[in-house]
Amino acid sequence: MDVLTVDHPLAKARLTVLRDARTDAATFRAALQELTVMLTYEAMRGAAVRVERIHTPVARTDGYWLADPPLLVPVLRAGLGMADQAHKLIPDAQMGFVGLARDETTLQPTPYMESLPQDLSGRPVFVLDPMLATGGSMAHTIRLLVERGATDVTAICVLAAPEGIEFLGGAGLPVRLVTASVDERLNDSGFIVPGLGDAGDRQYGAV
Ligand code: PRP
Repeated sequence: MDVLTVDHPLAKARLTVLRDARTDAATFRAALQELTVMLTYEAMRGAAVRVERIHTPVARTDGYWLADPPLLVPVLRAGLGMADQAHKLIPDAQMGFVGLARDETTLQPTPYMESLPQDLSGRPVFVLDPMLATGGSMAHTIRLLVERGATDVTAICVLAAPEGIEFLGGAGLPVRLVTASVDERLNDSGFIVPGLGDAGDRQYGAV
């Protein structure tokens, strides 16, 4: 699987705020939003553009517009904290939603919500979720997209575990990953190490 690690100093500094156990929920949400801008910006680097001649107040020149804005798909709950910022960067993007809760014992994702366009053939899709741990939640989400014809999926994750990357690669799903860090491993409870804890709980409180 194609993995792009965004290790810009500004991204590293925001990631450190997210990792730090002393960070309160409001500061965590703000750092996640700022880091999402950086990850989304890098994810869009190769995006197709449409060229059109425009007039500046001084002369004619080439203008550039996004030819094919991606569908943005935050995975609830934690991905919700990335949705607005990605949407601000790509205002013409449509947004779909997937709701999943990982069973804390089996680590399997339990779906509770799905709102996606029926036909995704030929459309790029960005899945937004801060955490790629076992990869089960991401694989479930990508399968929903593939069932609708998607072939060009980008997972934007703050953190990824090697186990999750391997799982997605082995599943043969059409996905590339943009992340701020590939961490060391998963622990016995399925948490990323060193990680940042539970991104949903740290933004919104434990449920
Ligand atoms: C977390 C995280 C991912 C998933 C990652 O969500 O935001 O969606 O777990 O784990 P996996 O790669 O092993 O599937 P969680 O299920 O805790 O729900 P939440 O976002 O509502 O907190």
